[in-house]
Amino acid sequence: MRRQFLTASLIIFMVQFGLLFVTQSMNWLFFITVPLFILGVYDMFQHHHTIIANYPIGGRLRYVMEVLRPKIYQYFIESDTDGTPISRIYRSVVYQRAKDTLSTTPFGTQLDVYETGYEWINHSMNPLNPEEAHDINLRINVGGENCKKPYSLSVFNISAMSFGALSSNAIMALNRGAKLGGFAHNTGEGSISEYHLRYGGDIIWQIGTGYFGCRADDGGFDADKFKERAHLESVKMIEIKLSQGAKPGHGGILPASKNTQEIAKARGVKPHTEVDSPPRHRAFKGLDGLLDFIVKLRELSGGKPVGIKLCVGIPEEFEELCKLMNEKNIVPDFITIDGGEGGTGAAPIEFSNSIGMSLRDGLIIATDLLREYGLRDKVKILASGKILTGFDIIRCISLGADACYSARGMMLALGCIQALECNKNTCPTGVATQDKGLVRGLVVEDKYVRVANYHRKTVESVTEILGAVGLHHTKELNRNHVWRRVSPTIARTYEQLFPTKVMGSKL
Ligand SMILES: Cc1cc2nc3c(=O)[nH]c(=O)nc-3n(C[C@H](O)[C@H](O)[C@H](O)COP(=O)(O)O)c2cc1C
Ligand code: SF4
Repeated sequence: MRRQFLTASLIIFMVQFGLLFVTQSMNWLFFITVPLFILGVYDMFQHHHTIIANYPIGGRLRYVMEVLRPKIYQYFIESDTDGTPISRIYRSVVYQRAKDTLSTTPFGTQLDVYETGYEWINHSMNPLNPEEAHDINLRINVGGENCKKPYSLSVFNISAMSFGALSSNAIMALNRGAKLGGFAHNTGEGSISEYHLRYGGDIIWQIGTGYFGCRADDGGFDADKFKERAHLESVKMIEIKLSQGAKPGHGGILPASKNTQEIAKARGVKPHTEVDSPPRHRAFKGLDGLLDFIVKLRELSGGKPVGIKLCVGIPEEFEELCKLMNEKNIVPDFITIDGGEGGTGAAPIEFSNSIGMSLRDGLIIATDLLREYGLRDKVKILASGKILTGFDIIRCISLGADACYSARGMMLALGCIQALECNKNTCPTGVATQDKGLVRGLVVEDKYVRVANYHRKTVESVTEILGAVGLHHTKELNRNHVWRRVSPTIARTYEQLFPTKVMGSKL
């Protein structure tokens, strides 16, 4: 079906060719189908446009529709700010940055700045000069006092997405982009595959409840297997996944049909069998056990930073964790807070729509509690959940984060068109599928540069915003910087809405 235009042109051409012998005259269709067929063959083998490679001739209609779309959309359907989960306006920003094309918008904002919920940051009367802003170094050091191999982390990184959810070419393009741009690539639960290692980009190895890559035969944790992989040069940090915003408290099943030879090899499981990831870990019991497990992984990895990822749920549990950190004097090197608005390859709709705290609320609760228990300076906070632009990063850091992750932003940079078929193995752009025919259309050589471009331009935007505010580092940001309209006539800073807690006030 993907090649219907190519096949149709070939059939019509052959029929015409046959008729040529009977009628001894050429039909006008002959002159259309020959060039069409040549164009189709060219489309199949060109490397610049995934859609055209996967859908020869027909794929070109997408680009025609792309050109017409803004007009049809503007006059008949909806505004550029409406599309979900990521509106057209932000998808376009990612595409433009990834392709390193036009980076400005005309005629002023399309947002309603008087609408409740509108947010902004105020500039200074003494902004930095471009040279001063250019010198801003936004990297942060991750690794507490017990960590022997701290890691210098970019302010913007690739969030967890497994090989399995994403294709081999997508993984390679992400990792090579990370290498080019000097940022980190989180493996997701699916562990480290050969595609993560081919280009040497920095890796954050995520350990989920399936313990893929360090899994014992009974489905538990295998310390020797963990040690071996954790010592790989590319592995810079370890992230223990407790939950993710799109499906907190929900395990996952890798169906036998998806458990291919390649995926099984990366995950350390038997191919063509069903493998489950339960909702909770069996390598440790409760929060007390979690802290001991962190120490264990830090030791086994030779002292690399070890952190946890969670979507904040019951606040009292997070408070309990803070108390235990003080009691046991064990602190993770970093905590990733994921928001309920976060993405996934596949999840039940109730879990995506109605379970778990959204990023800004979770971030505020977590950083407040860490301050109250005197722990905020000992741990770095990473944030994820619809972070796409420089302002999104600035806002998260103002609320309490140190650095950010993006998953879907990076997918868009790879060419994702938000077709929303990630769970069907039919992703038309080759990003979220294992169909070899579709994966082939995603050309690593082309797409890794786009990933690096998107990262670079977004970080440049962060420095430009800091410059406009007159600041030299994201560390100077706080809740006073970001404003939120709480009614058409009233605006408040985040500090007024959520006053920063006094350090150590609950000790
Ligand atoms: C295709 C896909 C696969 C994902 N796989 C994982 C995973 O293996 N582990 C995890 O912790 N989060 C996973 N996530 C969640 C992201 O890492 C991230 O937390 C979430 O999408 C929020 O970021 P975003 O809004 O930038 O997409 C996945 C997300 C997507 C879109
Ligand atoms: S193009 Fe569609 S199916 Fe492919 S990654 Fe994007 S949203 Fe998922």
